[in-house]
Amino acid sequence: MTVFITGLDQDFYLIFLLLLVLILSSIVFRYKFLRSFLFLFNPETVHHLSFSFIKIIMFFPIKNIIRYLFTLNHKSLEKEILGLNFSNPIGLAAGFDKDAKLFDELQCFGFGFIEIGTVTPEPQDGNPKPRLFRLKKDEAILNRMGFNNDGLELVVSRLRRKSSNLIIGGNIGKNKTTPNSDAINDYCICFEKLFDYVDYFVVNVSSPNTPNLRELQKAEPLLKILNKLQQLNSKKIKRKPILVKISPDISFEQLDSLIDTVNKSKIDGIIATNTTISRDNLNYEKNKIDNLGNGGISGKPLTQKSNEIISYIRKNTRKGFVIIGVGGILNGDDALEKIRAGADLLQIYTGFIYKGPSLIKNISKKIVDYENN
Ligand SMILES: Cc1cc2nc3c(=O)[nH]c(=O)nc-3n(C[C@H](O)[C@H](O)[C@H](O)COP(=O)(O)O)c2cc1C
Repeated sequence: MTVFITGLDQDFYLIFLLLLVLILSSIVFRYKFLRSFLFLFNPETVHHLSFSFIKIIMFFPIKNIIRYLFTLNHKSLEKEILGLNFSNPIGLAAGFDKDAKLFDELQCFGFGFIEIGTVTPEPQDGNPKPRLFRLKKDEAILNRMGFNNDGLELVVSRLRRKSSNLIIGGNIGKNKTTPNSDAINDYCICFEKLFDYVDYFVVNVSSPNTPNLRELQKAEPLLKILNKLQQLNSKKIKRKPILVKISPDISFEQLDSLIDTVNKSKIDGIIATNTTISRDNLNYEKNKIDNLGNGGISGKPLTQKSNEIISYIRKNTRKGFVIIGVGGILNGDDALEKIRAGADLLQIYTGFIYKGPSLIKNISKKIVDYENN
């Protein structure tokens, strides 16, 4: 521990101390206080810093205190879906713990499940920085990370150390240098290597930040990938659930084709949705947004679009088809809207950044009230 701290440079150490003070005060006061400090810094730096900070403070025996503060346990939150027993339906969306570095600690903030990834077979750096921006007026984030990740081998080595019964999803993708014609191999490698360490799989064909990835949502390539994964799955002693994660930037006609493909492949469900490339309805001038460049937007501007897609999928799929609803959940009402639209489980990312860890407990309370009225 001491070695770790003395290894940090001075700025890091100073920010760390400030963070400690702020975390403690924000437990006493409110997350908004901590957020105004964190939002002074570059978003990606804050992300890494928060990871180190959480890792270090959880080194001390305070996991149970954090769990007590942020978790709501209630019978009506428990769900059996995909053959898995969820303690609550609120998960951490892919992209936050891409490299499976912090899932054990993050679980203490009340999540019912955590999705790691997107993982690709080989490590890759992702797009050049800066690639992550806050759109504060919209409670949104613009990112073009581009599947920066440590690669399968390291991710698997971390998952091996998992000590709890936390439900983990494995979100898998292809390397940037792999042409779409060979993408199937990347998905198969990820599936095989992660199989023993995750509880369900997500085939990510919807990130806007890997060139042409979204082409894989088309019927022919998607069916090939899903059929192949199902074939590998059927050879296992016990198969694992497979879902496909889709983009919000598709027409209902394209969605029909996607649903048809998913039905043909007999996979278990859909995660709706990934980030949007649309720049509509933002509270910033167009040139300011344009200057930020390409990328996918998450958070509030995505809420309605994602709900429409969930609702459409629910109406057009068989009973028992699983939908994980994600996109713009920033409070309990947003979560209920997703459940009413047809989501079985929920995931959050941007809401966690803007509202802090208490968001999960607030959503949980809303769901308990909803279920019992
Ligand atoms: C910085 C960032 C990185 C992300 N990385 C991934 C990723 O690697 N794989 C993925 O499937 N989704 C990724 N996402 C998308 C989220 O999982 C989620 O689908 C999207 O942000 C919408 O949810 P939200 O509005 O709650 O953030 C990322 C989102 C953000 C903001």
